[in-house]
Amino acid sequence: MVQFSLPKNSKVRTGKTWPRPADAKNVRAFRIYRWDPDTGENPRVDTYYLDMDKCGPMVLDALIKIKNEIDPTLTFRRSCREGICGSCAMNIDGGNHLACIYGLDEIKGDVSIYPLPHMSVVKDLIPDLTHFYAQHASIMPWLETKTNTPAKEWRQSIEDRKKLDGLYECVMCASCSTSCPSYWWNSEKYLGPAALLHAYRWIIDSRDEATGERLDALEDPFKLYRCHTIMNCTKTCPKGLNPAAAIAQIKKMMVERVA
Ligand code: SF4
Ligand code: FES
Repeated sequence: MVQFSLPKNSKVRTGKTWPRPADAKNVRAFRIYRWDPDTGENPRVDTYYLDMDKCGPMVLDALIKIKNEIDPTLTFRRSCREGICGSCAMNIDGGNHLACIYGLDEIKGDVSIYPLPHMSVVKDLIPDLTHFYAQHASIMPWLETKTNTPAKEWRQSIEDRKKLDGLYECVMCASCSTSCPSYWWNSEKYLGPAALLHAYRWIIDSRDEATGERLDALEDPFKLYRCHTIMNCTKTCPKGLNPAAAIAQIKKMMVERVA
């Protein structure tokens, strides 16, 4: 398992321990990172106990149960509960996962839950993704065309459409980028695996007519080449995608176009 470092503001202290549920036989402890910028206090780790006989199977079920029944101040993002919105990404038991599709039975013992590593924290389990989204926008995540728009639609062969498989499924959860040591140290200038996977998705789209411009924009010592094939991104992706392979393909195209 990949073990990741704590969030940037990580002078973490031991926080509140909430009471165990009375008369429960199947109890589990959840140690959860808490930080509220309004208090001015350092982050802490609170401990909650849940009766697992009355809890759903996923980590998100446990978080919702804690918020609904024990501590309404616990703050986290979630929306779809299906692994498709990407909003519930967090660090669970030392690895980045989508809480809604990560089963509690995959974790042994106490469950530790932190925000995505090495990001500024907005509150509790919510990382600040402003810069991450700006990087995504910078790769022009849309179809760029120069020829006249066809009357009906931009056509694509079945073979060319298949080249997008393994790329278009990305849910922008940021698990990959926040698991990457190169991104931890250089996130201001290195685009990171998620943005680069999306860059490749548009570079190889047969309908796109800005391939040269897209590659030119990535020809930079930091944006692309700070990837050192560490592979945490691919190991981590909760959708089973391979950002490292996408990055390698971009590097290959860079070499081929000057050869
Ligand atoms: S490539 Fe995977 S880990 Fe990275 S943002 Fe997309 S879905 Fe999340
Ligand atoms: S709530 Fe949407 S991916 Fe988890």
